[in-house]
Amino acid sequence: MLERTDAAAPTSSVDLRKVGAHPDHWYPLAWSREVKVERPFAASFAGEPIVLVRPKSGAVFALEDRCAHRQVPLSKGVVNGDSVRCCYHGWSYDASGRCVDVPYLGKGKLPNGVKAYPCHEVDGLIFVWPGSKPPVAPPKAIGAAGDKSYKTRLFGKIVACHYTFMHENLMDMNHQFLHRRTTGKVFPRYLDRRLGDDWMEVDYAFMRPDQKPPLGEAVIVGSLRGESKSSQDLMTIRTSYPHQSLKFWIADGSPALDVWLGYTPVDKAQRQNRTFIVLSVRRPKISKLLDVVWPVLAWFTNRVFAEDCSIVEMEQVAHDDQGADWNQEVFPPIQDLRKLLAENGDLECY
Ligand code: FES
Ligand SMILES: [Fe+2]
Repeated sequence: MLERTDAAAPTSSVDLRKVGAHPDHWYPLAWSREVKVERPFAASFAGEPIVLVRPKSGAVFALEDRCAHRQVPLSKGVVNGDSVRCCYHGWSYDASGRCVDVPYLGKGKLPNGVKAYPCHEVDGLIFVWPGSKPPVAPPKAIGAAGDKSYKTRLFGKIVACHYTFMHENLMDMNHQFLHRRTTGKVFPRYLDRRLGDDWMEVDYAFMRPDQKPPLGEAVIVGSLRGESKSSQDLMTIRTSYPHQSLKFWIADGSPALDVWLGYTPVDKAQRQNRTFIVLSVRRPKISKLLDVVWPVLAWFTNRVFAEDCSIVEMEQVAHDDQGADWNQEVFPPIQDLRKLLAENGDLECY
């Protein structure tokens, strides 16, 4: 651990990077497309191994990914009907986690099963409730993914940083300098913020001094603006604990861009998060235009995301080298966000 040499005091007595993501929420664990019929899928929440199972008929279910017998992963097993059978001695578990078969024992002697997690599939994502409290109603929709007037892209990856860096990175639009080679010169202008107990929103407008966006962005924004003459760039970034969203308006009405982001801690120390991004773009009147520019948009968003991933991973490395949170945050909305994340997080794993 390095010694702190500057005079700046930590913003709070809590090191935010040691605050766990609170488990009493719905977290995305996998894309629907990853969980194939009768092929158990190994996932995790903060080091808790969880297997997702999609039987031939019926809903996806989630169980602790450890056989009750000798603790090996159930995700190595096979699915039979609506239960999953361990690959070792063949113990079988149903969707409630109950052990329903031990091939070499009578039915009357079945042992205890494994933990089952509330599970819910919506708009291409599989959510699990890892907490101990009874689950609240699961999300009915993810951003605009279910809205036919939008085209949606699902992407993301495991990012080697604490989930809180992701929240701060997205909400702090003052980092456009980082993206200068991808987006050109863009100056965000902070407009306003609104706060609740477990949510906050920040509004920005954007100015482009040279009025010349790079080609990719020009094509995309042109297609988003469609036939609208009015230009009214407004971006609202929201943290609704534990998830985030970004909406961007370039004309009146529904947002041209609607992005939903989930950050699920992977390992016990929560030094990695799996980021799930659901990016929806409103279809212009000539809907085919969006399909044509879609590869450009994919390239553009991948590149911006890669730049963000690489910088937040550097922040994590610095935190781990220094052994504490040395950040000197000066932007009031991010100070608010850090407080919100600490207050809603899981201090028990602190
Ligand atoms: S370890 Fe799973 S059945 Fe024995
Ligand atoms: Fe960024």
